[in-house]
Amino acid sequence: MTDKPAADLSEAEAVEELTRLADELARHDIAYHREDAPTISDAEYDALKRRNTELETAFPHLVRDNSPSLRVGAARSEQFAPVEHGVPMLSLDNAFSNEDALEFDARIRRFLRLSGAEEIGYTAEPKIDGLSASLRYEKGVFVQGATRGDGRVGEDVTENLRTIADIPGRLSGSGWPDVIEIRGEVYLGHEEFAALNAANAAAGLKTYANPRNSAAGSLRQIDPKITATRPLKFFAYAWGLISEPFAQTQWEALAKLKDWGFKTTPESRRVVSGQGLLDAYSAMEAVRPHLGYDIDGVVYKVDRLDWQHRLGFITRTPRWAVARKFPAEQARTILEAIDIQVGRTGAITPVARLHPVTVGGVVVVNATLHNADEIARKDVRIGDTVILQRAGDVIPQILGYVPEERPAGAVPYEFPTVCPCDLKTPIVKETTAAGAETVVRRCSGEFACPFQRIEHLRHFVSRRAYDIEGLGEKQLTFFFEKGWVAEPADIFRLARDEEKLAELRATDGYGETSISNLVAAINAKRRIPLDRFIFGLGVRHVGETTSMALARHFETVDRFIAVANAAAAQRAGGGYLALTELEGLGPTGVRAVLDFGGNDLGLVPDDVSLDKRLQLAIPKLNSRARAALIERFGDWDAIAAVAREAAAQAPGEDFRELSGVDAVGPVAARMIAEFFAEPHNHAKVDALLAQLDEVIPAERPKTDTAVAGKTIVFTGSLEKMTRDEAKAQAEALGAKVSGSVSKKTDLVVAGPGAGSKLKTATDLGVQVMTEDEWLALVGGG
Ligand code: IVH
Repeated sequence: MTDKPAADLSEAEAVEELTRLADELARHDIAYHREDAPTISDAEYDALKRRNTELETAFPHLVRDNSPSLRVGAARSEQFAPVEHGVPMLSLDNAFSNEDALEFDARIRRFLRLSGAEEIGYTAEPKIDGLSASLRYEKGVFVQGATRGDGRVGEDVTENLRTIADIPGRLSGSGWPDVIEIRGEVYLGHEEFAALNAANAAAGLKTYANPRNSAAGSLRQIDPKITATRPLKFFAYAWGLISEPFAQTQWEALAKLKDWGFKTTPESRRVVSGQGLLDAYSAMEAVRPHLGYDIDGVVYKVDRLDWQHRLGFITRTPRWAVARKFPAEQARTILEAIDIQVGRTGAITPVARLHPVTVGGVVVVNATLHNADEIARKDVRIGDTVILQRAGDVIPQILGYVPEERPAGAVPYEFPTVCPCDLKTPIVKETTAAGAETVVRRCSGEFACPFQRIEHLRHFVSRRAYDIEGLGEKQLTFFFEKGWVAEPADIFRLARDEEKLAELRATDGYGETSISNLVAAINAKRRIPLDRFIFGLGVRHVGETTSMALARHFETVDRFIAVANAAAAQRAGGGYLALTELEGLGPTGVRAVLDFGGNDLGLVPDDVSLDKRLQLAIPKLNSRARAALIERFGDWDAIAAVAREAAAQAPGEDFRELSGVDAVGPVAARMIAEFFAEPHNHAKVDALLAQLDEVIPAERPKTDTAVAGKTIVFTGSLEKMTRDEAKAQAEALGAKVSGSVSKKTDLVVAGPGAGSKLKTATDLGVQVMTEDEWLALVGGG
């Protein structure tokens, strides 16, 4: 390396030095990664990379296609290669009480339409508090192991997993599928955890807060030799991809996993019915202190795998299993202050700042106080000793204060009247569309409010949206305050902005490794699944489930945006909303009033009662609907005016498509339309799209079934299955299920009691069939 400043080099010299640097860095990468034997120190390596960047900044046209600076993360930082799971790794829904557990049983009974006499068998397994892993075996040989990651893509930690004695390199016994992903939990026992922490503390190394963190840290060591020194253990309890079925029940599957050489939890039991679930929970609570490892509840799973299959999934959790959590732990601490936080949507939330206290294995310093009413109701005051509760990964809650400990002179908390942001907007109670007051207080500053802007960014990088690792609160705030990141697209721009990255390198606390890790983590998200893309927009009322439904419905980002934009121009106006909000007037009534449109063509006599006149003008209205109109609008002219206005303001076809998507509905549809009606939101979405390489279309529905691609409406009561099951079945076969009948509906499955939807279908000439015909069509009869 020459010492000459980059700017003083001739072009020929720069070319030569860049070539040399590229070779040298590549050599060190190999020595470090593949041979585990680096030949230079980190600092020397970083200096080489810095020099490379310096030259590339001075001679941007000389940046090589294979430049070390473009090989972001791949150098020292990219620790683990991504592994796409053959079948996604899901999480579980939680149950917190006996009622919840019984409701789980009842829900399954309803979904499967089981008679009261038919018993449902379950497994009740301890919920191991570790981290899940997926182990791929081909022809009985362990070939690859991965962490859960975001559920779809995990990290390749094969070599680290190989060091765990409980994970067989080769399956024993026989009868395993050719290909199988075994799923289970990597964990650390209490004794091992204590010993490891003691040893680390003695050596001046990092100690961990609890066995789970310790197990996670141990598994994600870059050097498997370190992992090998950690006494990690593994319990198998599930599977992902399999080349062929190998069991008929969960219980039988657990036995097979054991035959093949895995440890399975000895406390697992097979139980029957709701009461069986409750008994299993009590039994697990009783053995919990004697296990020697952490469990945080019981996992109930429907035993029969054919039933599991029928029950299927809701977004990211199975319908056939639930985690019954142990009760929350409580602790006492001092409430030191109450801060006001402004959320992504402007909602104002008071946050309790607490004297640090350990609850359930983690140190808690903040807790939500929800809203002003809640503070008033609980009458917590600054200086109080409060009772804190934390359950699982749930946000800690303040239950109340301890009266005997209240300091003299503690005064009731006064809620601020203006937003803490620069705009100082008055904080007012929000009202619903119908004018009722709610407990929500909101800052109306939107993107002009810096708090909301940063919350949007936080939401964007969060786990369930873009899941950008390493871009935590601190970093994001830092970039935001520097003015580098104001909107999502800026995050991606930053990853390619050598000037800013160079400035970061010169900043305290940002090593080469953390910068290249960050750049790699950002770049990895330039391909993003459509549902996450939609969720990441941060539109109010558009959560994960709604985002997934939208993604499945529209399939591609182009279609989604086209319809959302069109819907933005077709939002319903006030007159229309007034009609739809009128009690006594259903969808059919609304349609009839719209058809009438305020124009009776002079054919309706005006010398009869108002009710009679309405009946003649709009024959489809029933008496209740007429009474509602009369009561609300008073006279003929007013009713005609509203009908005219509403007809002109009715939402268009695209808006209706949006709100017709199952799990979306009119409120979320309105929010989406409003979002896309804002030019500044538009600009942000466009800028973001320009930074992305691909928005991955939602999983293509099946195309080889009789109903693939068709839009189906179920109406009336079904007798062989529930509406939910019918819907899940239709969706699994590639159909779209909608809640309302329109020209776009392909098929209506009508059971007894079908009413207006059936009528609309007949009017529109849509194909109609019975439940039996449906079952015959899809082969489920
Ligand atoms: S079954 C589709 N069984 O709990 C459901 N999970 O909240 C697959 N866990 O990610 C999971 N013990 O890490 C299952 N006996 C058990 C479990 C268990 C612990 C963890 C697992 C999972 C999480 C879900």
